[in-house]
Formats: sequence, C-alpha cells, structure tokens
Amino acid sequence: MEISNAEFVISNTDVKKCPPGTFPEYAFIGRSNVGKSSLINMLTNHKGLAMTSATPGKTMLINHFLINKNWYLVDLPGYGYAKRGQKGQEQIQNIIRSYILQREQMTNLFVLVDSRLEPQAIDLDFIEWLGENGVPFAIVFTKGDKMKGGRLNANIRQYLKKLEEQWEELPPYFITSSENRMGREELLDYIEKINKELNSK
Ligand code: GTP
Ligand code: MG
Repeated sequence: MEISNAEFVISNTDVKKCPPGTFPEYAFIGRSNVGKSSLINMLTNHKGLAMTSATPGKTMLINHFLINKNWYLVDLPGYGYAKRGQKGQEQIQNIIRSYILQREQMTNLFVLVDSRLEPQAIDLDFIEWLGENGVPFAIVFTKGDKMKGGRLNANIRQYLKKLEEQWEELPPYFITSSENRMGREELLDYIEKINKELNSK
C-alpha cells in the first residue's frame, strides 16, 4: 500500500474528543522511548509528523493522523516512564486504557517492544491485559537496525517462546526499524488487508 497523504488532525487526553466518524484506526502503544512516534513517521515517509525525542515521555496525548483521507494512525503516550512519578504515570495509564477500551474505531493495536531487550514484565503484563479484554493486537519489534541479524533473530525467537507460555496461538508480529525501514511493507500490507476486509463488509 502506498501512503499518498498523511495529516495531523488532533491531540487529546480525552477519548470522547477523538475524531467522530467511522474510519478505522490503528494505534501504537508500548513503553516510553520504544519508538512509536518514529515508526509512524517511517510508515508515512514524513519525518516530523509525529514528535519524537531521545528522552522518554515525549508523547503525552492521543494523536490522530489521517492517512489517505480514509483511515487513521494513532500515536499514544508510552507507559512505564518512572520519572513521571506515580501520579503522572497513573494519568497516562488512564488515558491509554480508556482509549483502548472505549474507542470503537480502534481496529488494531500495535504493541511495540524493543527487539534488543529480553521480554519485560511490564510489556507481558500489558499484553495479558489486552487478552483479558479481548483487544485485537499485533506485536511490533522495534530498533531492528541496532543488532546483528543472528542476535536479532535469537531475541525474537526468545520473545515468541515467552508469549507461547501465555497464548495458545501467537499474535501476528513484525520486525521493524525506523532507521532502515525494515518491516514497512509488511506492516502496511497488514493494515491494507484489514481495511479491505472492513470495506467489503
Ligand atoms: P514516547 O513518546 O516518549 O513514549 O516515545 P516513543 O515510543 O514515541 O519513541 P520515539 O519515536 O520518540 O523514539 C525514541 C528514541 O528512539 C529516539 O531517539 C529515536 O530516534 C530512537 N528510535 C526510534 N526508533 C528507532 C529505530 O528503529 N532505530 C534506531 N536506531 N533508533 C530508533
Ligand atoms: Mg512518542
């Protein structure tokens, strides 16, 4: 799928103020600094579309980007940034949870995990929570450029093995890099397939 048009629409802390209408949306979630905003920029070929930062905690709001005038990418704040303090973290959790549970247009959640790290409890707990709530999701391994192929693949295998302890069937997954654009086609094809299924209903 080609992205011919990408535009920022609105930022919110309140799910009720997200754009009205029935366009499907695909949201990006994961720990602070995992690369959510960078991935949106990579997918849309639009460097400054979503704001990124080397310091965690950059994205604080629910951000809607309208793609090809008929679907949305949604950039969410990251979870687990300790320096926000307990209260700050709870606020962010509430924004994330209410968006995920209440936003009917949310068609698929991409859960980003850093491909360099061993499976982290915070991500596994979050994924478990998605399962309990029946939220459709796929896993996106990020920063794939930062490791040699062999180690990268070994890490992914380790992660999938861990997920198999929790899940009978593995969720779809993608290996990506916003630096070298790995995984871009696969991810966009996945979105396109879902969009087509929705349109044929
Ligand atoms: P918050 O908004 O704070 O939750 O973070 P985020 O998940 O949106 O992360 P962001 O996209 O801002 O990226 C965080 C840092 O990681 C930035 O310094 C990016 O340049 C870097 N980064 C993101 N993706 C990649 C990648 O694929 N490869 C490399 N090498 N660096 C990346
Ligand atoms: Mg961000």
